Order: sequence, then structure tokens, then C-alpha cells
Amino acid sequence: MKLGVVGAAASLAAALGCGGGSKAPVAASPAEAVQEVSFSAFIAPVLATKCVRCHTGERAADGVKLASYEEVIEHVVPGDADSSHLYEMISGPQPKMPKGSAALPERTQQLFRDWINQGAKNN
Ligand code: HEC
Repeated sequence: MKLGVVGAAASLAAALGCGGGSKAPVAASPAEAVQEVSFSAFIAPVLATKCVRCHTGERAADGVKLASYEEVIEHVVPGDADSSHLYEMISGPQPKMPKGSAALPERTQQLFRDWINQGAKNN
């Protein structure tokens, strides 16, 4: 059936990335092909379980609130994890945060790093 062939061609074109406007995403560091880290899928859940109990509301520790994207972004320099206060606190040989708990796993620290270096988007 003709329509079927056209449909198949269209989806093949889409699969090959010929769908028009398919600019390559801006890579923070071209050397490493990193998957885009989603704030809502990866970052927010970590903050919610590891940080928010001390960092929300009027009595937030140090006045640092981490319960929403808008609050989190205040402690981050988009595109520059190494200059981001939040990243500094959870990384390094002896991370200061989460206070009183084990450091975040290296893999999780890396997710924060990638998310920030990818522009710290509300994605
Ligand atoms: C048990 C409570 C607690 C938890 C959990 C916690 N914090 Fe904190 N946080 C504090 C306290 C208290 C301070 C004030 C500084 C201090 O005492 O070290 C602070 C300070 C901070 C600061 C500001 C530090 C500065 O020097 O300006 C940041 C940023 C921060 N925390 C991020 C986080 C992140 C990210 C997490 C989760 C990975 C987290 N915190 C988990 C209690 C906590």
C-alpha cells in the first residue's frame, strides 16, 4: 500500500535525524559524549531524599533552600560545575553535604556535575 511506504520512509528519515532542525545539542565538553541529565528525573529526587529535610522552609540550614528548581539554581553556575557552590558541597575528598550522612555515590556526584555543565536546565 502506497501510504505505508510513505510512512515508512518518513519514520526512517526521522530515525536518521533528517526531521529538519535537528541541530546537534550543544555539548559542554565535546570530549565526553554525556547523556543529558534531567533535573526532574535525577537531580530533584536526590535532593528530595538527601537534602531537603534540612534545606527547606523558614528554618532551612544556612538559609539554603533546595526544594524547587528556582531555589536550587541560586546555588549553581549553569555550565560551570566547578564554580557551583552546590557541587562543591557534595564533591571532593570529604564532601560537606549531606551533613551527617555518607557522601553521595560518585555516580550521583557525576550526575550533578553533568547536569550543571549541561546548563542546569529545568528539564
Ligand atoms: C542533616 C541536615 C542537613 C542535610 C541532610 C544537608 N544539609 Fe546542607 N547544610 C546543613 C547545615 C547545618 C548547613 C550550615 C553549614 C554547616 O553547618 O556545615 C548546611 C549548609 C549547606 C550549604 C551552604 C554551605 C556554605 O558553606 O555556604 C549548601 C550549599 C548545602 N548545605 C547543600 C546541601 C546539599 C546539596 C545537601 C544534600 C546532598 C545537603 N546540604 C544536606 C545541614 C544539612
